[in-house]
Amino acid sequence: MTTTYDFWLAGRRASGDAEFEVHNSWDGRLVGKVSVPTEAQVEEALDAAVAALPVFAATPAHQRAAALDHVAKRLAERSEELAQLITAENGKPIKWARGEVGRAVSVFRWAAEEARRTNGETMRLDTDPGGVGRFALVRRFPRGVVLGIAPFNFPLNLVAHKVAPAMAVGAPIILKPAPATPLSAMVLGEILAETDLPAGSWSILTVPNDRMPALVQDERLPVISFTGSDKVGYQIMDSVPRKHTTLELGGNAAAVVLADWSSEADLDWAATRIATFANYQGGQSCISVQRVIADAAVYDALVEKVVAKVGAQVTGDPNDDATDVGPLVDENAAKRVESWVDDAVAKGAKVLVGGTREGATYAPTVLAELPSDAILAKAEVFGPVLSLHRVEGVAEAFAAVNDSPFGLQAGVFTHDLQTAFRAHRELEVGGVIIGDAPSYRADQMPYGGVKDSGVGREGVKYAMDDYTVEKVMVLTGLDL
Ligand code: SIN
Repeated sequence: MTTTYDFWLAGRRASGDAEFEVHNSWDGRLVGKVSVPTEAQVEEALDAAVAALPVFAATPAHQRAAALDHVAKRLAERSEELAQLITAENGKPIKWARGEVGRAVSVFRWAAEEARRTNGETMRLDTDPGGVGRFALVRRFPRGVVLGIAPFNFPLNLVAHKVAPAMAVGAPIILKPAPATPLSAMVLGEILAETDLPAGSWSILTVPNDRMPALVQDERLPVISFTGSDKVGYQIMDSVPRKHTTLELGGNAAAVVLADWSSEADLDWAATRIATFANYQGGQSCISVQRVIADAAVYDALVEKVVAKVGAQVTGDPNDDATDVGPLVDENAAKRVESWVDDAVAKGAKVLVGGTREGATYAPTVLAELPSDAILAKAEVFGPVLSLHRVEGVAEAFAAVNDSPFGLQAGVFTHDLQTAFRAHRELEVGGVIIGDAPSYRADQMPYGGVKDSGVGREGVKYAMDDYTVEKVMVLTGLDL
């Protein structure tokens, strides 16, 4: 029997007057139906969130932290069920879905810890004669109700990155999951409903995309946290320039392999990490490896290993523990990737491995000699395709990384500490990973990009800063 999932309105289950279906992209089966809120129900959720704002913002830290700890514990207890649901709704291989649930546990655990340790700061003011006897306290307060808009590629963890920081600072949130993958967010709702968070402090609303512009415009939602495509992200930001908007957008992440990374073991490690993280979740991660920029001194040896390891990726049923690469989110996504590879090949690129599609599954693919006018040379592929680029020296390698409209993360394989610091300084990205692929992310790290990769940072503490604003209080007449 197919489960119909209710949405969550001001902390309680509710159903609307329409529903949509969620299908598995591997076998097409119906995974679940989801109820859609009416306009009146959305209004009710927004009113409840506004009413909850002063109450929630004043909730003691221990209460918010306890709720967040509870969510972390319950996610861990329900981890296998959630992993299977993520695989069912998204198509990502079960081993990556298990990893995602583990990360969501950590996000809520971090949020509990940050809620306990957030203190604000003090500031002496007697640094000038006019400030004698004065002292300031700087504390952060919620900007208002948050509208969180989550993507399909990490249906649980990128929802966690919106919800947990909001709970940590006492900001009510209206969360809108991706229409393709709303189910694990609905289970998260079951767990949130077990806490004593104030009524109205959270809603998870399966609002269809075509109704989102009205929510984006709504003045009761002064903070927008969006993860998704650059096109939609900047449309949102441009449509509400006075709102506090954070955008976590795309990337075409580069892995740089420099001349000093040259031993057999070095190149094996680099090739393994590149092959794995170009293809994890079918390349549907904003920091999956899309470009390999290798020094001529190591290029040939590296390419041989990368091609062998990409060719050895196990493609197939995402429910199978052994599967590395499953289907993309749907067949249209795989057809788009196919058309971009075809475009590259028509313009002169060489396929070293892969280059085929079966239904929603696109084979792990390596391209060489990618011409600069190919779509793939600049756009984010969001599929299991990487291109190889030969360069001479560090300056040319770093210039190649920066020759991109995006700037999310980069990986630099080098043993040289000075080069690591140079990469940190010169690469136009939000994060530099030394000795590994660009795809490494610990959930407490600041995460976000520059250029077309977005504005603002996630990573629990950093999102908490985005959801709040500093307010200063000056005490006067003090005998300090
Ligand atoms: C993303 O696709 O931006 C998220 C990547 C991650 O959380 O690992």
